[in-house]
Amino acid sequence: MKGELSTKMPSNQSKPPKTQDELKREAAQAAVSLIESGMVVGLGHGTTALHAIHYLGQRMQTGELRNIRAIPCSRQAEDAARDLGIQLTDFREAPLIDITIDGADEVDADFNVIKGGGGALLREKVVAQNTRREVIVVDESKLSPRLGTHWAVPIETLPFACHPVTRYLENLGGNVTQRNKPAGKPFYSEQGNYILDSNFGPITDPYHLAAALSTRAGIFDHGLFLGLVHDVVVASQTGVRFLHRPC
Ligand code: 5RP
Repeated sequence: MKGELSTKMPSNQSKPPKTQDELKREAAQAAVSLIESGMVVGLGHGTTALHAIHYLGQRMQTGELRNIRAIPCSRQAEDAARDLGIQLTDFREAPLIDITIDGADEVDADFNVIKGGGGALLREKVVAQNTRREVIVVDESKLSPRLGTHWAVPIETLPFACHPVTRYLENLGGNVTQRNKPAGKPFYSEQGNYILDSNFGPITDPYHLAAALSTRAGIFDHGLFLGLVHDVVVASQTGVRFLHRPC
């Protein structure tokens, strides 16, 4: 991966392989070490980001970190922060977030990512765009040679515009599935919108696709996070790596 700063820890061959969740925890814990007292912290959404919120809470409870204020990307993150006694703030009080720790679904070698597997992409992108240092925490299964290889691009869509937006996405080459809840009812984002998961296959030019998605009425946002990520913390069976995007 470009811009790699290796901080590998030794592996222990005799132990059984770590589960994906253990790797997510390790990445999250390593990323939380980047947080310093006094910072405004963006709290991401998803299982890996939730681990990070818990480690942040732990560091605050031991007194290692003080004066932390946080802006959550979702109700899940907000509830977790409240449970852990993490003080919440907003963009009126804190216009720029110092550091955000969030998960991702797919990460390419240029630090571009697909997000939105948990449906929180719109707030996650607002947070990322207003963050000095966006840190993505993943297990190694999320690394990809090209965005779209393993994951569809989530598109947050006004329910009224669902059909025309679906046709638009299909014309762009997407294979579109409206996201449902397990019971088969439509999934609604926290903003009350549908998510259209659009499988484009490996995406040759993500910037071109993002531009086409951004200009269409009815599309609130998409899960392509391009040029927004500063660091990726990857946990694998052989250790945790901190990857820093070259300037
Ligand atoms: C939510 C997201 C998540 O960060 C992404 O789906 C990764 O989730 P997890 O950490 O549970 O694998 O983008 O909208």
